[in-house]
Amino acid sequence: MFQNVRYYPGDPILGLIDKYNVDPNPNKVNLGVGVYYDNEGRLPILECVKTVEKQLAQQNIPHNYLPMDGLAGYRQACQNLLFGTQHEAVQSGRIATIASLGGSGALRVGAEFIHQWFPRANIYVSNPTWGNHISIFEGAGFTVKKYPYYDPATNGLKIEELKQFLQQLDAGNIILLHPCCHNPTGIDPTASEWDELLTIIKEKKLIPFMDFAYQGLGDDLEQDTYAIRKAVDLGFCLYISNSFSKNMSLYGERVGALSVVCPNQEQAKIVQSQLKFIIRRFYSSPPGHGNYIVDQVLNNADLFNQWQQEVTEMRERIHAMRFRLHEVLQSSVPGRDFSFLTKQRGMFSFTGLNSEQVARLQSEFSIYIVENGRMCIAGLNTKNIDYVAEAMAKVLT
Ligand code: LMR
Repeated sequence: MFQNVRYYPGDPILGLIDKYNVDPNPNKVNLGVGVYYDNEGRLPILECVKTVEKQLAQQNIPHNYLPMDGLAGYRQACQNLLFGTQHEAVQSGRIATIASLGGSGALRVGAEFIHQWFPRANIYVSNPTWGNHISIFEGAGFTVKKYPYYDPATNGLKIEELKQFLQQLDAGNIILLHPCCHNPTGIDPTASEWDELLTIIKEKKLIPFMDFAYQGLGDDLEQDTYAIRKAVDLGFCLYISNSFSKNMSLYGERVGALSVVCPNQEQAKIVQSQLKFIIRRFYSSPPGHGNYIVDQVLNNADLFNQWQQEVTEMRERIHAMRFRLHEVLQSSVPGRDFSFLTKQRGMFSFTGLNSEQVARLQSEFSIYIVENGRMCIAGLNTKNIDYVAEAMAKVLT
């Protein structure tokens, strides 16, 4: 019965972890998957998370099923974080929010909902985007199309081309947007560019789906919500997936959320009910540990402040690595402009290295970056950065 089943060759990002793990080179560096490591190369457990985990251990909470859509306190805290506690959309109860299995789970549940209720909608993703966006939406039955985004000539955004492209799309299609820290390029629209883009998206009656996996790693937790809050203020109904994998270092707990901003409370209740039905059919209810942790961090003022501080430290360390990499490369490869490294934001840099140069980094130096040239800056530290910069300089010259 399995003779026609095709082998899945693996994921271009996650597959790098396996290769890295078996590489015997003591100088190997993992800059593939989007995971934040501290300056010692360790995956941090945030102090705010440690505090909550100690409390949870003492509370001896029985391992009951969670509600299909997750803990109510967690869901409310997600809304406050995304839109602001006092926002009219939050206060009026017109946002449906479900706890999800990380950001990917939120995308998949959202994709299922849209495809079920709006089967004629296509989705447009940026060129390039995170590869799994395409897989997730195709997996839900969508035809995935691309909109212009990255300009290799300037290492920037193709803003004019993008605006023109949006102008010719039909109403009712979905536009997948990255509100901050674009994956893989690290290139985000400015606030005024967001204003222009969202105005066109509104005029054309397109529907934004904002994938918000890196909140806090761009400017800060609040400023990174600019595009989301702007869209709500413009009167959009929209979808937002968010994740605590990166900003709370809770990767394996699979903790995220899907929020759907609706016109009124009544419709939000109906949407919420359908999202629960999807969850019931997919996996019934979310795992509890991550929900409990994030609930307690976000709903306690002291822990929230501590978290904010810890996110700031992560963001600033990434910035410092960007500047150091820029400094070393600028002096070792004269005549080439590396200023893009300090302009890009978030965990990733689109280095411009081609697949041959990426392969050389791996085979000659045991430095693992994604084949499209995406490097996870958050894997650099003061001990490996010069090695990486020198290796980059060698493959570039
Ligand atoms: C990444 O882009 O590296 C992360 O979002 C991890 C993943 O699942 O691909």
